[in-house]
Amino acid sequence: MSWDERLNVLLIGGGMISREVVLPTLFQERRRGIVGEIAVASRRGRTIAECRRAFPGEDFAGRPDPREGEEESRPDSYREALSGMERPGVVMVATPDHLHTEMTLEAIEAGHDVIVMKPLCLKVEEAHRVIAAAEKRKAYVATDYHKRMDRAVRLARYRVRRGDLGEMLHGHAWIEEPKYMPLDRFRLWAHESSPFEYVGVHYVDVYYFITGLRPKRVAAWGQKKFLPTKGSDAYDAVQAAIEWEDGSVLWIQTSWVCSEKNSAMTNQGLQISGTKGEYWADHKFRNLHIVTDEKGFEQVNPNFFRHYDGWEDDDTVEYVGYGFESISRWLRDIYELHVVTEGMSEADARGHREGKLKEWEAGQRPLPRQALIGVAVNEAVRLSLDNNSAYVGFDDKMYPRLSE
Ligand SMILES: NC(=O)c1ccc[n+]([C@@H]2O[C@H](COP(=O)([O-])OP(=O)(O)OC[C@H]3O[C@@H](n4cnc5c(N)ncnc54)[C@H](O)[C@@H]3O)[C@@H](O)[C@H]2O)c1
Repeated sequence: MSWDERLNVLLIGGGMISREVVLPTLFQERRRGIVGEIAVASRRGRTIAECRRAFPGEDFAGRPDPREGEEESRPDSYREALSGMERPGVVMVATPDHLHTEMTLEAIEAGHDVIVMKPLCLKVEEAHRVIAAAEKRKAYVATDYHKRMDRAVRLARYRVRRGDLGEMLHGHAWIEEPKYMPLDRFRLWAHESSPFEYVGVHYVDVYYFITGLRPKRVAAWGQKKFLPTKGSDAYDAVQAAIEWEDGSVLWIQTSWVCSEKNSAMTNQGLQISGTKGEYWADHKFRNLHIVTDEKGFEQVNPNFFRHYDGWEDDDTVEYVGYGFESISRWLRDIYELHVVTEGMSEADARGHREGKLKEWEAGQRPLPRQALIGVAVNEAVRLSLDNNSAYVGFDDKMYPRLSE
């Protein structure tokens, strides 16, 4: 392998997930030799300034430049960054859900590969546009469904695929977050989303990932009791029953009005039963707790995205866990595509990409045709909520349709 270039990465966003997971992952991958230039494009200079304060020792380009004003809204700053971006490039989209499609399409059109935070987008029609654009350019477009890298989920997939649980009968997933999410962190866009669309979709993808089954119909229920008393029109909680093509049913319950005094940020877990056995996992409580005078009782998930003392250099921090691994995996896939096609003719490189993308999409990677499933169920849940919990089915392209 003579290719010694590194991937240039443009991160569009700069909010919570960018600071907690994406940026530290990119900095670590730069230290490990995969990533080269890093740029962050956000809407306001203030966000860039906050990212710089969060990572004082790290070098990255930022737009808009906070020195030119921190508060002016510059929603097009990512376009300026895209136009100057050199290949090989990866665009990471970490903006609110309703902005993903446009940014992803523009990044593909500019000739780059893309990693999008879940969900890929909000509408099936948009997902089909992404599928078509990725197909045309042979672009790698991964949706960061990081639970696919959680060993507790991989274990379920392994055992289910070997038939240990028999045929699927039913399951129950729960994922619930604290009140500060809709009231504070996502105050500006919580009413455009819901706890199902924001986090429940993770377990739609998990069931699809584990079983390979496609959803057949959905019915959803929602409650608005607490948030309206705080001036928000968002749902407090949403539940959905999803029937899959084999007749099995998964119940997913979601909320974002849990107590802020919870022992961890997110209640979450999964139980599934088949004709020969059962899988049960608390994905919040991993049998590890810490109690301190300052923070009280904390249940810690050591598997997600944790800071550890660096193994090689005791004075550095190493990020470990499925939050890191998933982004790293997609970056390394893209890196591999460039390494292997280096020096090939354009036609050969395109042919190689086409074959590899097909192989990966038939397997475990959340490439666009796989990410379509979460998008379709999200859209169906919204349609059911808007129609008094009516059943919503899917046509052959996964467009949701109200059942007769
Ligand atoms: N993988 C996961 O489990 C996970 C976890 C949390 C969030 N997410 C997803 O990540 C995405 C971002 O979530 P977050 O928690 O960081 O949200 P956030 O609201 O904290 O951050 C979003 C950022 O996007 C910026 N932005 C808005 N418009 C922009 C534009 N036109 N150009 C550039 N930047 C713009 C905002 O200024 C903000 O900094 C969402 O899609 C969310 O669903 C995924």
